[in-house]
Amino acid sequence: MKLIPSSVQDLATVSALIAEHRDWPGALLPLLHAVQEALGHVPDDAVPAIARALNLSRAEVHGVITYYHFFRREAPGRQVVQVCRAEACQACGGEALLALAERVLGCERHSTRADGAVTLEPVYCLGLCASSPAIQIGERLHARVTPERLQRLLGEAGVAEVAQ
Ligand code: FES
Repeated sequence: MKLIPSSVQDLATVSALIAEHRDWPGALLPLLHAVQEALGHVPDDAVPAIARALNLSRAEVHGVITYYHFFRREAPGRQVVQVCRAEACQACGGEALLALAERVLGCERHSTRADGAVTLEPVYCLGLCASSPAIQIGERLHARVTPERLQRLLGEAGVAEVAQ
């Protein structure tokens, strides 16, 4: 992975979030969530400051970021499409939906399309197990997604040709 240095503004945001969270018990996960919420990802060059502030090693912080699929190390595309691959959705065609999303978006899972318009991420449970398969586009959850509906939703989100 190529490291793109964070902007001064992004690192200032990280510093402010460190100051806000550093004294919390078990501060690491809430801090990482806050950083990702603010920046869309947890930049690699924020890891040393986070480790120093929480009295952890860089390896410990890096280990947590890479252990949880939720955390991104690179900025996502302008739109994020998440397709659930956990058990209930898998049983209802989740993998086929993800493969279709790759084809329709022209972008592999865990990656951002070359034009920066969209990032495609497999995720592990969106909390809609009883209505699987589920996806999320931006902040919106969608349940019982069929292949036809997936294509339509991606078209409506402006990241794929609108299905006819
Ligand atoms: S398993 Fe897909 S939403 Fe829970």
